[in-house]
Amino acid sequence: MSIRIDEKERLFSLETVHTLYQMKADENGVLLHTWYGLKTGTDMSYRIRTVNRGFSGNPYEMQTRFDYSLDTLPQEYSTDGVGDYRPSAVQVTLANGSRSADWRYAGYRLLKGKEKPQGLPGLRGNAETEGLEIKLEDRVSGLNAFLTYWLFEAQDVIVRSVRLENSGDEAIRIRKAASVCMDFPYGTKEVIHFHGRHAMERVAERAGIPQGGRLAFESRRGMSSHQSNPYIILCDPDTTERQGQCWGFMLMYSGNHLEEVSADQAGSVRVISGIHPEGFEWMLEPGKSFQTPEAILSFSAEGLNALSRNYHRVIREEVISPRWRDAKKPVLVNSWEATYFDFNAEKLLCLARSAKELGMEMLVLDDGWFGKRDDDSTSLGDWVCNEAKLGCSLKELSERIHAEGLKFGLWVEPEMISPDSDLYREHPDWALTEPERLPMISRRQLVLDMGREEIQDYLFGRISAILRDARVEYIKWDCNRSIANCWSLALPEDRQGEAAHRFMLGTYRLLERLTEAFPEVMIEGCSGGGGRFDAGMLYYCPQIWCSDNTDAIERLEIQRGTSYGYPVCTMGAHVSACPNHQTGRNVPLETRGIVAQAGTFGYELNPEKLTEAEKETVKKQIETFHRFETLIEGGDYYRLDESETDYTAWMFVSPKKDEALLSLVTTHVRANGMFPLVRLQGLDPDRIYRREDTGEELTGAALMQGGISFPQMTGDYPCEQVYLLAMKNE
Ligand code: DGJ
Repeated sequence: MSIRIDEKERLFSLETVHTLYQMKADENGVLLHTWYGLKTGTDMSYRIRTVNRGFSGNPYEMQTRFDYSLDTLPQEYSTDGVGDYRPSAVQVTLANGSRSADWRYAGYRLLKGKEKPQGLPGLRGNAETEGLEIKLEDRVSGLNAFLTYWLFEAQDVIVRSVRLENSGDEAIRIRKAASVCMDFPYGTKEVIHFHGRHAMERVAERAGIPQGGRLAFESRRGMSSHQSNPYIILCDPDTTERQGQCWGFMLMYSGNHLEEVSADQAGSVRVISGIHPEGFEWMLEPGKSFQTPEAILSFSAEGLNALSRNYHRVIREEVISPRWRDAKKPVLVNSWEATYFDFNAEKLLCLARSAKELGMEMLVLDDGWFGKRDDDSTSLGDWVCNEAKLGCSLKELSERIHAEGLKFGLWVEPEMISPDSDLYREHPDWALTEPERLPMISRRQLVLDMGREEIQDYLFGRISAILRDARVEYIKWDCNRSIANCWSLALPEDRQGEAAHRFMLGTYRLLERLTEAFPEVMIEGCSGGGGRFDAGMLYYCPQIWCSDNTDAIERLEIQRGTSYGYPVCTMGAHVSACPNHQTGRNVPLETRGIVAQAGTFGYELNPEKLTEAEKETVKKQIETFHRFETLIEGGDYYRLDESETDYTAWMFVSPKKDEALLSLVTTHVRANGMFPLVRLQGLDPDRIYRREDTGEELTGAALMQGGISFPQMTGDYPCEQVYLLAMKNE
């Protein structure tokens, strides 16, 4: 039994294969967080010490127990306004203007059969998935919090979310509703977060937590953002890729989010993650509930690579649609960097023909095929083919592309509207704008008020009409600006704080409807590259364009950062032309191929412009990708470079540990330099592996302890790839 409940002690123990998550309702009904770590088989509340630290008040019923304070005890879901002065998980305003919530334990319920949280994406689970719901109540207001925990035992993952329910008689204004709160009373901790910007997303940074201070990682852009991914890792200072304790907090949400990491007066660390409270308010009428997004938690005592693998497994197995989980995806060529807005059907067909000759399998027609769009100033919302520009209908184009032996994909940007569009002329009120104020524009476009059903219906109608008419196997779903002027005509004045979350709920609803109606069409997420790369979008889109930066050397950092939380099968990665369009850098085609192979693998160039030698290289690249595809997409991924080095290396190991693929890119070649030495991971120490390139036979132990050294390399950004096959046991 993975959920153990000691009713007398009111002790709740949730166990996955390696971990224990534990909490306990104490004599006052305060739900204490007692442990998240390796299994111990013990009531871990023995570690909790009460202490009078001064200026930390006591609940009324404790009278002279000055050592008992909500301010110093590890809380499972922290209160507000009643003496816990650390960051709170929930903030509310009651009808009389008071602002406290004092949670006390009010019972539990065992759950079986995972359900998706209302209106939101969630881990899939199945009829056997076990869960626990704990009810906390605020006796004065009637505001109940139902804390939900689902166990994904094999992946060492616990999924938390909260449903707030108003059982009182008056409306309650929710100002903050986090998905998770967790206290770590002992020891110094560090946090790894993933910051970035357009064309440089998810850069991993590790930081200490200032005592008495608070770090905030956040997006208030309406989207999960390029700037701060909704995923953080807490770890011990000595944790590395290979060893040490680490805890992951990944929010399954694509809108505004906040991850707070604070250390209190005594160094106790608190992590809170959820929808960003700034700008957010939700009016909870009597009898109604508010559901938070799910937070995917995982713990590893074996370092960051092991933690990442837990996330890779759970995203592959429980987030991505089963339809796409093991599907072989076509090697695509995307028209964006090949033609930008300058194309017609004939040009696209030439591109398709030359792509087919090299082994590519799908042509994706990017931005510019609809309305009157020849640049980014117009037509978003007018999802009707520009036949005058193409020289034929979309149906005809898709048929001709298929006749060339390629599948066909199409770009859309559904959540946006151009002021210069028929849609805007007909429905100017559909855009999120504020009364009497000129709207903030970005990329010359406005954002649709996706919370409104008539807008969702319009988009569903337009996109389904295209998918019914033309043969389209793939949609690239883009989103090219942040939200501003977040005011909805559909909401009264006192509910405008709901608009940003309703935008996200509406987008999810549209994605849900489209994926249900057209399950055979794969949707790739995108937001000016990787501006909405999160578990929420991955529920609908099995892969997401990782970045608009296609420079292979920059991609090393972007894909490496992304890999801390997300598997390579989700990372859109393409080989592009050189000099690179974003950096002007020249990188050998072989290196560009190896880097894109650590993702979904495709091309973002015009194959006609390649030299004959380059064409041969591309053909070989595609063959190599197909040869290793199962190992890359389904194998275990390891980051191998642990500190500042002149190379980046990674490897894939098959689940049976009988084959492995090591890739290395030298980012700085030095005269008379050192030999790069890479210590492998994840192999079976007792088996013998044969190196395909040299024929050497070495034990897994030797490869992992002694490593492989590479000869000195020369030239710009050289790369190496080594395939290892385990010898049959005698
Ligand atoms: C941003 C995307 O990330 C690009 O790949 C491309 O689709 C452009 N938008 C088109 O506008």
